[in-house]
Amino acid sequence: MPVKPTPADKFSFGLWTVGWEARDQFGDASRPALDPIESVRRLAELGAWGVTFHDDDLVPFGSSDAVRDDIIKRFRAALDETGIVCEMVTTNTFSHPIFKDGAFTSNNREVRRYGLRKVIRNVDLAAELGAETFVMWGGREGSEYDGAKDVNAALDRYREGIDTVAAYIKEKGYGLKIALEPKPNEPRGDILLPTVGHALGFIAELEHGDIVGLNPEVGHEQMAGLNYTAGIAQALWAEKLFHIDLNGQRSIKYDQDLVFGHGDLLSAFFTVDLIENGFPGGGPRYDGPRHFDYKPSRTEDVDGVWVSAAANMSTYLLLKERALAYRADPEVQAALEASKVLELSKPTLGEGESLADLLATPAAFEELDVDAVAAEGYAFVHLNQLAVEHALGGR
Ligand code: GCO
Ligand code: MN
Ligand code: MN
Repeated sequence: MPVKPTPADKFSFGLWTVGWEARDQFGDASRPALDPIESVRRLAELGAWGVTFHDDDLVPFGSSDAVRDDIIKRFRAALDETGIVCEMVTTNTFSHPIFKDGAFTSNNREVRRYGLRKVIRNVDLAAELGAETFVMWGGREGSEYDGAKDVNAALDRYREGIDTVAAYIKEKGYGLKIALEPKPNEPRGDILLPTVGHALGFIAELEHGDIVGLNPEVGHEQMAGLNYTAGIAQALWAEKLFHIDLNGQRSIKYDQDLVFGHGDLLSAFFTVDLIENGFPGGGPRYDGPRHFDYKPSRTEDVDGVWVSAAANMSTYLLLKERALAYRADPEVQAALEASKVLELSKPTLGEGESLADLLATPAAFEELDVDAVAAEGYAFVHLNQLAVEHALGGR
């Protein structure tokens, strides 16, 4: 039976998710616009804990300062009334045509300066609302044509932009961390920082990289044919998993933003297993928000929007229950042992053992029965079948 979420589960949603009017490249909106205040109330009723937004989701682009102040005041009141936390804020640097060639990496310097101003204004708002994370998804930072973008210069400008924002956060003493969100393509033909790995490499080149990490999205890694769970695992290892965008994607195609678990369900099981149980051998843990960045399918009416929002949380909680049972099962523990999964935590060289000592150990090389070791199976299929059986509720 599905369990009802509570704020302790730390589920959060972007206002742009439930609020998506379902306008796509081929068709008009299929749903009316939702009032963000109403969305906050509905999410609270469903058991969510937090909400996130792009500046323009809350305050329409081009609003006067007076209108902006009024909307923010009403939004704050809705947060106070419902107890919903605004945990993350992000900036829309992709909808308005001024950003058609990007914001921080537009070829046009005027656009870059305007983009920086828009982002800095939003950093102030994020801090004012008590958000902990400032997501930066550079959806338009890229190009369709290799000759149209000097990638060396673009990465210099990207670094300049992110470092400037990070330095501002530090100077103001805001408790914010920046989380970059990789995506391989869409809306641009190719987007800069296309995967978790590219973004980690970029962060290592920043001056203020200590407060810059990642917000990996399930579907974005899968659009690149990559394994999401392995991606967030490496981000965790690098202590850079600052936030997550959970959703569903079925293989390499356009960005589907399906409900979490409605794409690769077994991958979703292992994602939840990693988040809730951590690595089998211990190590860094993720304890941030369980944030959903999905789109209620265009076929759904407004009631269907709330059904789909609840579906994300329900699927997560069911997978959590299954993942906890999987790890607690003595058969699984024995299978992890038999597959030597836990042996991987043991350093390759013994304590105090040097490479010279290893070179002088005939049992490790000259005398090792290579054929006998090679003949041993790892029994990974049995281990995986146990996971499948747990995920399906068969155990
Ligand atoms: C996408 C992206 C965006 C970003 C969001 C944060 O589906 O391509 O997820 O939704 O997450 O805009 O800036
Ligand atoms: Mn997406
Ligand atoms: Mn996202």
